[in-house]
Amino acid sequence: MNIKERRTIRKYTQQPVSDELLNRLIEDASRTQTMGNLQLYSVVVTRSEAMKQMLAPAHFCQPMVTQAPVVLTVCADFRRTTDWCLQRRATPGYDNALSFLNAATDALLFTQTFCCLAEEEGLGVCFLGTTVYQPQSIIDALELPELVFPVATLTLGWPAEIPPQTDRLPLKAIVHQETYGAFTPERIDACYAGREALPENKHFVEINNKETLAQVFTDIRYTRKDNEAMSEGLLTTLARQKFLRADSLPGVIPTVVERRPEVLECDVVRFQNKKEKWVAFVGLLDGAPYEIFTGLQDDEEGIAIPKSVSKGFIIKHYDRDGQKRYDFQFVTGRGYKTTIEGLSERFNPEYWDYAKLISGVLRYRMPIDHVVRLITSLQLENDTINSWTAGVARVLKKYLPDAQQTLEEEEDTP
Ligand SMILES: Cc1cc2nc3c(=O)[nH]c(=O)nc-3n(C[C@H](O)[C@H](O)[C@H](O)COP(=O)(O)O)c2cc1C
Repeated sequence: MNIKERRTIRKYTQQPVSDELLNRLIEDASRTQTMGNLQLYSVVVTRSEAMKQMLAPAHFCQPMVTQAPVVLTVCADFRRTTDWCLQRRATPGYDNALSFLNAATDALLFTQTFCCLAEEEGLGVCFLGTTVYQPQSIIDALELPELVFPVATLTLGWPAEIPPQTDRLPLKAIVHQETYGAFTPERIDACYAGREALPENKHFVEINNKETLAQVFTDIRYTRKDNEAMSEGLLTTLARQKFLRADSLPGVIPTVVERRPEVLECDVVRFQNKKEKWVAFVGLLDGAPYEIFTGLQDDEEGIAIPKSVSKGFIIKHYDRDGQKRYDFQFVTGRGYKTTIEGLSERFNPEYWDYAKLISGVLRYRMPIDHVVRLITSLQLENDTINSWTAGVARVLKKYLPDAQQTLEEEEDTP
């Protein structure tokens, strides 16, 4: 189909779209450009009624979702690449915002190439932007693992309508020569006059009791209130899928999880307590500190772990007699798992109790800057414990957002 003829199709005939055709289109679309040739996307094909019904609410029950023979959810996907790296002794670093943007770019390029090929074949397609409005519902329905995030949905089928084509803004609205030219009031008028004069748009303004077409967008279709609420949901879900650290989101408080998961990822952070070398194990949930264990780094009395180890897992373990204990597990450079059993047994009970108290505060998600202030304000009897609290505060400062870290460091300097 000539691009000048294309339009979104929202009504489909009952004629099925064969697996053979769908697979061919997907395979051909995968020839599109992709970052590092990594293909940072995946496609979930939905054909069953039950699954369409599950997806529909996330798309505000737009009728195409249940009416189309095929629904495709295209996801930004760093899971497969990360698993490949882990399986090949390579250390992946793709649990961050940049990686999400790269994977989302890949996914959207793939989506658009697929649309062009499907339309050339005579199929009708509708792009659903609602995919990123309530992504958690889609993640739950499609059982998407961490580092997989839905970015686009396409409803697909043989067209049962030929709707009129929509207008487009003139070239001067989208093209700038050499540098970005300002939109003077005259230029805005020239860009939008044609659209505002269309009878359907005049009608739209009238039935919505608005003065201008722009007001229909700001006050009804895409409002600040909705955008802000959905942005917050989007950021929280990005953090849950591990593309963002939960504590890097200003104003987004990680959810309280009272029941400690059996296994928590953990950072291993060394710190100085008086003249002694100590180590902290910071258990993380959604990327934010959830608990802390500390102890002397020592072969005989305390705990000894190779210098290269900076990450691992804290595992809650019950003995046969129901006694609870916490183990630390890490993977050696050669890929072997090593477990140090009974973290609690190895540490001085007094520090253990203070650490328990701090962990309680962390578990209920007091913002980290408050936790740091609380710990540094403690005036305890014993000088060594005071030095320990200063060490723990330094460890936790690592989890402040960058801007706050700088601020705290400035406050520390006399
Ligand atoms: C990011 C994005 C989100 C969209 N979301 C929806 C949607 O949720 N529902 C829908 O019916 N159309 C959706 N569309 C289709 C647009 O409404 C459509 O492309 C636009 O009105 C222009 O019409 P045309 O595609 O027929 O030229 C979306 C398109 C894009 C690119």
